[in-house]
Amino acid sequence: MCGIVGYNGYKPAVSILTEGLSHLEYRGYDSAGVALIHEGKLAVHKAAGKLSALEAKLDTALHLQTGTTGIGHTRWATHGLPEERNAHPHLSQDGKIAIVHNGIIENFQELKTELLAKGHHFISDTDTEVLAHLIEEEISSSSSICDGFAKALRRAHGAYAVVMLTSDRPDVLYAGRMSAPLLLGIGQNENFVASDVPAFLAHTRDVIFLEDYEIACIEKDAWKIFSLDGLSPLEKKVHHITWDMQSASKDGFPHFMIKEILEQPRVIKDCLAGRIIATPDRRQVTLNELNRLAFPSRLRIVGCGTSYHAGLWGQHLIEKLSGIPTAVEIASEFRYRDPLLCPDELVLAVSQSGETADTLAALRLAKTKGCQVIGLCNVVGSSIAREADIVLYTQAGPEISVASTKAMCSQMTLLSLLALFLGQEKNPSVYDDPFLEALIALPDQLSAALPEMQEYSARLAKRYSAAHNFYYLGRGQCYPLALEGALKLKEISYIHAEGYPAGEMKHGPIALIDHNFPTFALAMNDILFPKVESNIQEVLARQGQVIALVQNNNSMRPDLPVDDLWVLPSCHPVVSSFFALTAMQLFSYHVADYLGKDIDQPRNLAKSVTVE
Ligand code: AGP
Repeated sequence: MCGIVGYNGYKPAVSILTEGLSHLEYRGYDSAGVALIHEGKLAVHKAAGKLSALEAKLDTALHLQTGTTGIGHTRWATHGLPEERNAHPHLSQDGKIAIVHNGIIENFQELKTELLAKGHHFISDTDTEVLAHLIEEEISSSSSICDGFAKALRRAHGAYAVVMLTSDRPDVLYAGRMSAPLLLGIGQNENFVASDVPAFLAHTRDVIFLEDYEIACIEKDAWKIFSLDGLSPLEKKVHHITWDMQSASKDGFPHFMIKEILEQPRVIKDCLAGRIIATPDRRQVTLNELNRLAFPSRLRIVGCGTSYHAGLWGQHLIEKLSGIPTAVEIASEFRYRDPLLCPDELVLAVSQSGETADTLAALRLAKTKGCQVIGLCNVVGSSIAREADIVLYTQAGPEISVASTKAMCSQMTLLSLLALFLGQEKNPSVYDDPFLEALIALPDQLSAALPEMQEYSARLAKRYSAAHNFYYLGRGQCYPLALEGALKLKEISYIHAEGYPAGEMKHGPIALIDHNFPTFALAMNDILFPKVESNIQEVLARQGQVIALVQNNNSMRPDLPVDDLWVLPSCHPVVSSFFALTAMQLFSYHVADYLGKDIDQPRNLAKSVTVE
């Protein structure tokens, strides 16, 4: 969470920084700020709220245009309210050092006590300001700025990325990374540093990924990277980014979220591309990345939020097709409960961003226990992708909307391929079922269904947007989808929603049902359909309103008086999940749109959760 950017070059820094921050706002938007060198001194400007509030302020401060070195920040509040005084950059006591920071300094209270005793005063409630003062202290007793910067970072515990600008060396940016993403963009007579590639992609495609315990000194025409511990110089590889800004722009859509939902047929196609081969008898899955994988005795899937839901969805399929016992865990729970893991257990870390702190920690824990780890990621070169033994990329392209949509679709596609791949090792009949063929046909089928689904969901959304609560019910593979449907609705419309296994309703939750408490029931055409149908009856018997998501080849009894029967195309039972997922995403989108919510940047959230 929080986006940081730094520029050192020959162009006016302020516009480059604000442009960079606009591409990082998905990481947080509680406040924004920049610091530049102006007439040899630091000039800091900040504003509470979104970047637009800062931009409005900067419009009146045109003198800032002269500075060609600067740092910027967009905040997701951790310590301290989202107010201007807590906005970054934060200054040292003498005002000569400004820092921007992403992450949490866990021992900040202890450091603050020490610094208060030395006469430091603090303006904000943040851990970041403490770090700025600590850096000042350490530099004052060090042989060089770089040395002092490193000493201070060594004393800061936690997960963070930090960039510093000091008026004592206005020609250098100092950056350090500890478990939060930070990359350098290498240009011609200008260099960048940021939390993510889109911040500088308009200027350069050449990128260096900083690793943990590394610091960088960035000049406009040179950069050096050192180990944090011994300050020994390090050789780093420069990576070339191949995707472009087009895929990170709205392309005429009102919101990234709707653009990304409608991209899903293409996303599925891209995820399948190159991963299916034709043999003389049939088509089958090939995952070259897994060629050297030893067949695991068990599989553990870890992830957070939507990625966790995708993992739960994949569990059903992997167990069924491969016979490998599979458990799915929320990464933040897994990492702290000393889980029992056998060394031949395979761990699959699912993460769109590849930077989620809890998932990264779960991956590291699994590695310490000797397990092989596969990262199932979207962001190329992300921390999870780099630290996993093997990485499977989902190929969804940049997902900008905070509410994840196409990422889950791509994760489900890749988990389907993984289930088939693991299945074909042991079970020759895995292809007797036409699942793979159905998956190949899915992009076109989904694409053809989307216009009608859009229209229906918009109508439905209008009707239900006044609700204060919602249940989402599903069974089997539809249960994780119900969890995801509820998450989507609550995160962007702020309507309270819960996903439940439909069979659990009668054990308590049904007590809440009345005519004001609607239920979204996933009644796909699978073997559990009759059971879900009974659960729907139970809700109706309590005067609950029901939207039933069904398929046109199933036998929902015509006398079932549901309020809305949303009929999706008939297809393979597993593939129907992709239709159900899309339907719920569209419904949430249209409810939030109808209610006028800030769809791409919902309150209190951030795209990439790099803190615990
Ligand atoms: C869902 O809409 C959210 N964006 C969130 O739950 C997200 O899936 C979670 O934070 C995990 O992110 P990751 O996939 O990048 O690890």
